[in-house]
Amino acid sequence: MQNVAEKLEAGSVSLQDFRQQDPEFQELMLNIISIHVASEMYGADCFEPSILKAPTAEFKMRMAKTVMEEYGHHLRFRQLMEELDLDWEEYARRKGHLTTFDTPVDTWADQVVFLALVDRAAAHQFRHFVNSPYQPFQKACQETLKEEYGHVGLGMDGVKHLLQTEEGRAQVEAAVKIWLPVGLQSFGGDGSKRNEAYRRWCIKQDTNENMRLAYFQQVRNIITQDWGIDIPEDMNEVWRSDGDDTERAY
Ligand SMILES: [Fe+2]
Ligand SMILES: [Fe+2]
Repeated sequence: MQNVAEKLEAGSVSLQDFRQQDPEFQELMLNIISIHVASEMYGADCFEPSILKAPTAEFKMRMAKTVMEEYGHHLRFRQLMEELDLDWEEYARRKGHLTTFDTPVDTWADQVVFLALVDRAAAHQFRHFVNSPYQPFQKACQETLKEEYGHVGLGMDGVKHLLQTEEGRAQVEAAVKIWLPVGLQSFGGDGSKRNEAYRRWCIKQDTNENMRLAYFQQVRNIITQDWGIDIPEDMNEVWRSDGDDTERAY
């Protein structure tokens, strides 16, 4: 079986070939696709109230575009299920949305720090998915990744705008405490069996631990240097894996 997996190159499995693949590969692919079908829709619903919370017309417009694109991501991943003649609603219901959306996005500061940190974590995942074997998924991820970079950009601009006032700075500091652990947690558990399976089938190229650490190093630089907010140097002081492979994760 491992030899089969080794031969799976990026984009080498077409829609027509999908059902001939190993059952484990099919299951893993459908797992990722259905968690996106559920999460992109749920996330868009969570983001929608932020349009009116945005402080300027420019930010309102960019937030509205972000919400529109998140609904678009839902439709894009849903199409991957539909073209396999699968009941996307049933899968999405069974799977549920990513745990990242369990924490409420209450304020504009929450929203922009979410985009700067948690959408950035999603982009780290998508950078792996664009090298995965199932071609329709790979293409959907390429298109989505481009838009996720735009969402991260809106988050960064929104934070910069808030940092101009003392009140805004305090809001960003409070939001970082909430959303940095959510971003770190989104990579899944340490020593994850599911990640091992993803790597076996070339859907991901690295462990959750390594991906999380690379992410932490990147966001730590941004938070401390660009934003001037102090956070611990040691990731374990911010978040620690309980070794759980939660269902509602990648
Ligand atoms: Fe999205
Ligand atoms: Fe996004």
